[in-house]
Amino acid sequence: MPLIPARILYIENLAENTYRLAVKPLYRVEDVKPFNFFMVWVPRVDEIPLSIAYRRRDVIEFLFKVRGEGTRKLSTLYPGNLIALKGPLGRGFVVENDLENILVLAGGIGIAPIPFFISRSRYRRLDLVWGVRERGELFNLKNLYPEISEKFSLIIVTEDCSYGICGTVLDALRSIDINAYSIILAVGPTAMLSKVCEYVKGNNVYVALGTMVKCGLGICGSCYIKSSTKLLCIEGPVFSCNEVGYHLRESVDS
Ligand SMILES: Cc1cc2nc3c(=O)[nH]c(=O)nc-3n(C[C@H](O)[C@H](O)[C@H](O)COP(=O)(O)OP(=O)(O)OC[C@H]3O[C@@H](n4cnc5c(N)ncnc54)[C@H](O)[C@@H]3O)c2cc1C
Ligand code: FES
Repeated sequence: MPLIPARILYIENLAENTYRLAVKPLYRVEDVKPFNFFMVWVPRVDEIPLSIAYRRRDVIEFLFKVRGEGTRKLSTLYPGNLIALKGPLGRGFVVENDLENILVLAGGIGIAPIPFFISRSRYRRLDLVWGVRERGELFNLKNLYPEISEKFSLIIVTEDCSYGICGTVLDALRSIDINAYSIILAVGPTAMLSKVCEYVKGNNVYVALGTMVKCGLGICGSCYIKSSTKLLCIEGPVFSCNEVGYHLRESVDS
Protein backbone atom coordinates (compact mmCIF):
# COMPACT_ATOMS: atom_id res chain seq x y z
CA MET A 1 0.00 0.00 0.00
CA PRO A 2 1.60 3.31 -1.06
CA LEU A 3 2.23 6.20 1.31
CA ILE A 4 0.03 9.19 0.53
CA PRO A 5 1.73 12.55 1.17
CA ALA A 6 -0.48 14.91 3.18
CA ARG A 7 -0.04 18.60 3.94
CA ILE A 8 -0.70 19.87 7.44
CA LEU A 9 -3.45 22.50 7.41
CA TYR A 10 -3.43 23.21 11.12
CA ILE A 11 -2.24 21.77 14.36
CA GLU A 12 -3.77 22.94 17.59
CA ASN A 13 -2.95 22.28 21.24
CA LEU A 14 -6.33 21.35 22.78
CA ALA A 15 -5.37 20.25 26.28
CA GLU A 16 -2.45 18.92 28.27
CA ASN A 17 -0.24 17.10 25.73
CA THR A 18 -3.24 16.70 23.44
CA TYR A 19 -3.37 17.94 19.85
CA ARG A 20 -5.76 18.23 16.95
CA LEU A 21 -4.14 17.76 13.57
CA ALA A 22 -5.84 18.46 10.23
CA VAL A 23 -4.25 17.29 7.00
CA LYS A 24 -5.09 17.42 3.31
CA PRO A 25 -3.86 14.35 1.43
CA LEU A 26 -2.28 15.22 -1.92
CA TYR A 27 -3.93 12.20 -3.60
CA ARG A 28 -7.42 10.84 -3.23
CA VAL A 29 -7.92 8.68 -0.14
CA GLU A 30 -10.41 5.86 -0.51
CA ASP A 31 -13.58 6.06 1.54
CA VAL A 32 -12.93 5.87 5.26
CA LYS A 33 -15.07 4.35 7.99
CA PRO A 34 -15.19 5.13 11.72
CA PHE A 35 -12.41 3.32 13.58
CA ASN A 36 -10.32 2.98 10.45
CA PHE A 37 -6.83 4.24 11.18
CA PHE A 38 -3.76 5.37 9.29
CA MET A 39 -0.10 4.67 9.83
CA VAL A 40 1.07 8.27 10.01
CA TRP A 41 4.63 8.71 8.81
CA VAL A 42 6.37 11.35 10.87
CA PRO A 43 9.45 12.60 8.98
CA ARG A 44 12.77 11.31 10.35
CA VAL A 45 11.07 9.40 13.19
CA ASP A 46 8.63 6.54 12.57
CA GLU A 47 5.17 5.50 11.46
CA ILE A 48 2.54 5.61 14.20
CA PRO A 49 -1.07 4.36 14.12
CA LEU A 50 -3.68 7.11 14.60
CA SER A 51 -7.46 6.81 14.31
CA ILE A 52 -9.49 9.07 12.09
CA ALA A 53 -11.10 11.61 14.41
CA TYR A 54 -13.11 13.41 11.73
CA ARG A 55 -13.40 13.90 8.01
CA ARG A 56 -14.72 16.97 6.21
CA ARG A 57 -14.57 16.51 2.42
CA ASP A 58 -10.88 15.93 1.68
CA VAL A 59 -9.61 17.07 5.07
CA ILE A 60 -8.78 14.37 7.64
CA GLU A 61 -8.43 15.13 11.32
CA PHE A 62 -6.60 13.31 14.08
CA LEU A 63 -6.68 13.81 17.84
CA PHE A 64 -3.54 12.60 19.55
CA LYS A 65 -1.75 12.57 22.86
CA VAL A 66 2.02 12.98 23.13
CA ARG A 67 3.43 9.66 24.37
CA GLY A 68 6.96 9.34 22.98
CA GLU A 69 9.22 10.46 20.15
CA GLY A 70 6.76 10.04 17.26
CA THR A 71 3.84 11.91 18.76
CA ARG A 72 6.19 14.55 20.24
CA LYS A 73 7.72 15.25 16.84
CA LEU A 74 4.26 15.34 15.24
CA SER A 75 3.14 17.96 17.78
CA THR A 76 6.01 20.27 16.75
CA LEU A 77 5.20 20.33 13.02
CA TYR A 78 3.68 23.40 11.32
CA PRO A 79 0.97 24.15 8.76
CA GLY A 80 2.46 23.52 5.33
CA ASN A 81 4.74 20.68 6.54
CA LEU A 82 4.32 17.32 4.83
CA ILE A 83 3.63 14.02 6.55
CA ALA A 84 2.41 10.81 4.88
CA LEU A 85 -0.46 8.41 5.45
CA LYS A 86 -0.72 4.67 4.87
CA GLY A 87 -4.30 3.47 4.90
CA PRO A 88 -7.15 3.53 5.67
CA LEU A 89 -6.40 0.39 7.72
CA GLY A 90 -8.55 -1.96 9.76
CA ARG A 91 -12.12 -3.01 9.28
CA GLY A 92 -13.74 -0.06 10.99
CA PHE A 93 -16.94 -0.05 13.00
CA VAL A 94 -20.16 1.84 12.32
CA VAL A 95 -23.76 1.54 13.55
CA GLU A 96 -26.53 2.05 11.01
CA ASN A 97 -29.78 1.20 12.76
CA ASP A 98 -32.23 3.85 13.96
CA LEU A 99 -33.38 1.54 16.76
CA GLU A 100 -30.07 1.26 18.61
CA ASN A 101 -29.36 2.93 21.93
CA ILE A 102 -25.58 3.20 22.28
CA LEU A 103 -23.43 3.76 25.33
CA VAL A 104 -19.88 4.85 24.51
CA LEU A 105 -17.21 4.72 27.22
CA ALA A 106 -14.04 6.64 26.38
CA GLY A 107 -10.96 6.73 28.60
CA GLY A 108 -8.46 9.56 28.02
CA ILE A 109 -7.37 9.88 24.38
CA GLY A 110 -9.68 6.94 23.64
CA ILE A 111 -12.02 9.80 22.72
CA ALA A 112 -10.09 10.23 19.42
CA PRO A 113 -12.22 8.07 17.06
CA ILE A 114 -15.55 8.99 18.65
CA PRO A 115 -16.45 12.22 16.75
CA PHE A 116 -16.14 10.40 13.41
CA PHE A 117 -18.04 7.40 14.78
CA ILE A 118 -20.87 9.71 15.86
CA SER A 119 -20.89 11.65 12.58
CA ARG A 120 -21.18 8.52 10.40
CA SER A 121 -23.46 6.35 12.59
CA ARG A 122 -27.25 6.17 12.70
CA TYR A 123 -29.01 5.29 15.96
CA ARG A 124 -31.81 6.36 18.26
CA ARG A 125 -29.75 7.62 21.19
CA LEU A 126 -26.05 7.84 22.05
CA ASP A 127 -24.71 8.63 25.52
CA LEU A 128 -20.99 9.26 25.81
CA VAL A 129 -19.10 8.90 29.09
CA TRP A 130 -15.64 10.46 28.82
CA GLY A 131 -13.28 9.82 31.71
CA VAL A 132 -9.92 11.50 32.28
CA ARG A 133 -7.52 11.74 35.22
CA GLU A 134 -7.92 15.50 35.71
CA ARG A 135 -9.64 18.45 34.03
CA GLY A 136 -6.45 19.62 32.26
CA GLU A 137 -6.89 16.66 29.89
CA LEU A 138 -10.32 17.84 28.78
CA PHE A 139 -11.32 19.88 25.75
CA ASN A 140 -14.72 21.02 24.56
CA LEU A 141 -15.78 18.25 22.23
CA LYS A 142 -19.14 19.79 21.33
CA ASN A 143 -17.52 23.14 20.37
CA LEU A 144 -14.86 21.35 18.36
CA TYR A 145 -17.44 19.41 16.33
CA PRO A 146 -20.62 21.53 16.28
CA GLU A 147 -22.03 19.43 13.42
CA ILE A 148 -22.50 16.49 15.78
CA SER A 149 -23.13 18.31 19.06
CA GLU A 150 -26.86 17.51 18.99
CA LYS A 151 -26.26 13.83 18.24
CA PHE A 152 -25.10 12.76 21.71
CA SER A 153 -25.25 13.50 25.39
CA LEU A 154 -21.97 13.84 27.25
CA ILE A 155 -21.04 12.84 30.80
CA ILE A 156 -17.58 13.87 31.99
CA VAL A 157 -15.82 11.90 34.71
CA THR A 158 -12.55 12.94 36.39
CA GLU A 159 -10.50 10.72 38.69
CA ASP A 160 -9.31 13.64 40.83
CA CYS A 161 -12.87 15.03 41.04
CA SER A 162 -11.79 18.36 39.45
CA TYR A 163 -14.69 18.37 36.95
CA GLY A 164 -17.95 16.54 36.31
CA ILE A 165 -18.63 13.28 38.08
CA CYS A 166 -15.98 12.10 40.51
CA GLY A 167 -14.36 8.72 39.76
CA THR A 168 -13.40 6.52 36.86
CA VAL A 169 -15.32 5.46 33.77
CA LEU A 170 -15.94 2.17 35.58
CA ASP A 171 -17.46 4.00 38.57
CA ALA A 172 -19.77 5.85 36.19
CA LEU A 173 -20.66 2.62 34.42
CA ARG A 174 -21.71 1.00 37.71
CA SER A 175 -24.26 3.77 38.25
CA ILE A 176 -25.79 3.45 34.76
CA ASP A 177 -28.70 1.20 33.82
CA ILE A 178 -26.89 -0.78 31.13
CA ASN A 179 -30.10 -2.57 30.16
CA ALA A 180 -31.19 0.68 28.50
CA TYR A 181 -28.56 0.15 25.78
CA SER A 182 -28.47 -2.24 22.85
CA ILE A 183 -24.77 -1.56 22.13
CA ILE A 184 -21.93 -0.74 24.51
CA LEU A 185 -18.62 0.39 23.04
CA ALA A 186 -15.48 1.11 25.08
CA VAL A 187 -12.25 2.78 23.91
CA GLY A 188 -9.30 3.48 26.18
CA PRO A 189 -6.50 1.89 28.21
CA THR A 190 -6.30 -1.91 28.22
CA ALA A 191 -7.04 -2.16 31.97
CA MET A 192 -10.26 -0.19 31.48
CA LEU A 193 -11.35 -2.34 28.53
CA SER A 194 -10.67 -5.50 30.50
CA LYS A 195 -12.82 -4.30 33.40
CA VAL A 196 -15.65 -3.27 31.06
CA CYS A 197 -15.67 -6.76 29.53
CA GLU A 198 -15.69 -8.34 33.01
CA TYR A 199 -18.54 -6.10 34.20
CA VAL A 200 -20.88 -6.19 31.20
CA LYS A 201 -21.68 -9.55 29.70
CA GLY A 202 -23.33 -10.13 26.34
CA ASN A 203 -22.79 -10.15 22.62
CA ASN A 204 -23.40 -6.43 22.24
CA VAL A 205 -20.31 -5.20 24.13
CA TYR A 206 -17.41 -4.00 21.98
CA VAL A 207 -13.93 -2.70 22.71
CA ALA A 208 -11.43 -0.88 20.47
CA LEU A 209 -8.00 -2.35 21.17
CA GLY A 210 -4.66 -0.58 20.97
CA THR A 211 -2.20 -3.43 20.43
CA MET A 212 1.18 -2.73 18.86
CA VAL A 213 0.77 -2.06 15.14
CA LYS A 214 3.87 -2.10 12.92
CA CYS A 215 3.20 -2.99 9.28
CA GLY A 216 -0.56 -2.43 9.32
CA LEU A 217 -0.84 -4.89 6.44
CA GLY A 218 -1.32 -8.27 8.10
CA ILE A 219 2.30 -9.31 7.48
CA CYS A 220 4.42 -8.84 10.61
CA GLY A 221 2.08 -10.37 13.20
CA SER A 222 2.83 -7.76 15.87
CA CYS A 223 -0.86 -6.88 16.31
CA TYR A 224 -2.11 -10.44 16.89
CA ILE A 225 -4.93 -11.02 19.37
CA LYS A 226 -3.74 -13.54 21.95
CA SER A 227 -5.29 -16.99 21.79
CA SER A 228 -6.88 -16.29 18.40
CA THR A 229 -5.95 -16.08 14.73
CA LYS A 230 -7.13 -12.48 14.49
CA LEU A 231 -4.99 -9.46 13.64
CA LEU A 232 -6.00 -5.99 14.80
CA CYS A 233 -4.79 -4.29 11.63
CA ILE A 234 -7.03 -6.49 9.47
CA GLU A 235 -10.06 -7.38 11.60
CA GLY A 236 -9.96 -4.63 14.22
CA PRO A 237 -9.48 -2.45 16.03
CA VAL A 238 -13.03 -3.05 17.33
CA PHE A 239 -13.84 -6.54 18.64
CA SER A 240 -16.60 -7.94 20.80
CA CYS A 241 -15.63 -8.76 24.39
CA ASN A 242 -16.36 -12.40 23.57
CA GLU A 243 -13.57 -12.38 20.98
CA VAL A 244 -10.88 -10.66 23.04
CA GLY A 245 -11.59 -11.44 26.72
CA TYR A 246 -8.55 -13.71 27.06
CA HIS A 247 -6.31 -11.23 25.20
CA LEU A 248 -7.35 -8.40 27.52
CA ARG A 249 -6.81 -10.40 30.72
CA GLU A 250 -3.37 -11.57 29.55
CA SER A 251 -2.36 -8.08 28.36
CA VAL A 252 -3.27 -6.51 31.70
CA ASP A 253 -1.48 -9.19 33.72
CA SER A 254 1.74 -9.25 31.66
C1 LIG B 1 -5.35 1.22 15.93
C2 LIG B 1 -4.72 2.28 16.81
C3 LIG B 1 -5.23 3.57 16.78
C4 LIG B 1 -4.68 4.56 17.59
N1 LIG B 1 -5.22 5.80 17.55
C5 LIG B 1 -4.70 6.79 18.31
C6 LIG B 1 -5.24 8.10 18.26
O1 LIG B 1 -6.17 8.40 17.51
N2 LIG B 1 -4.69 9.05 19.06
C7 LIG B 1 -3.63 8.76 19.91
O2 LIG B 1 -3.17 9.66 20.62
N3 LIG B 1 -3.10 7.52 19.96
C8 LIG B 1 -3.59 6.54 19.19
N4 LIG B 1 -3.03 5.28 19.22
C9 LIG B 1 -1.82 5.07 20.06
C10 LIG B 1 -0.60 5.65 19.32
O3 LIG B 1 -0.38 4.88 18.16
C11 LIG B 1 0.66 5.60 20.20
O4 LIG B 1 0.48 6.52 21.27
C12 LIG B 1 1.88 6.02 19.40
O5 LIG B 1 2.22 5.02 18.46
C13 LIG B 1 3.06 6.29 20.32
O6 LIG B 1 4.21 6.53 19.54
P1 LIG B 1 5.40 7.41 20.08
O7 LIG B 1 6.54 7.29 19.11
O8 LIG B 1 4.94 8.81 20.38
O9 LIG B 1 5.75 6.79 21.47
P2 LIG B 1 6.64 5.53 21.85
O10 LIG B 1 7.68 5.99 22.83
O11 LIG B 1 7.09 4.79 20.64
O12 LIG B 1 5.56 4.65 22.62
C14 LIG B 1 4.84 5.08 23.76
C15 LIG B 1 3.76 4.04 24.04
O13 LIG B 1 2.81 4.08 22.95
C16 LIG B 1 2.41 2.75 22.58
N5 LIG B 1 2.86 2.51 21.19
C17 LIG B 1 4.06 2.80 20.65
N6 LIG B 1 4.12 2.44 19.38
C18 LIG B 1 2.93 1.87 19.09
C19 LIG B 1 2.41 1.26 17.93
N7 LIG B 1 3.12 1.16 16.81
N8 LIG B 1 1.16 0.76 17.98
C20 LIG B 1 0.43 0.89 19.10
N9 LIG B 1 0.89 1.45 20.24
C21 LIG B 1 2.12 1.93 20.24
C22 LIG B 1 3.06 1.82 23.56
O14 LIG B 1 2.17 1.61 24.63
C23 LIG B 1 4.26 2.58 24.04
O15 LIG B 1 4.66 2.21 25.33
C24 LIG B 1 -3.57 4.26 18.44
C25 LIG B 1 -3.05 2.95 18.47
C26 LIG B 1 -3.63 1.97 17.67
C27 LIG B 1 -3.06 0.60 17.68
S1 FES C 1 0.63 -4.74 12.29
FE1 FES C 1 1.71 -6.21 11.16
S2 FES C 1 0.26 -7.83 11.05
FE2 FES C 1 -0.87 -6.23 11.98
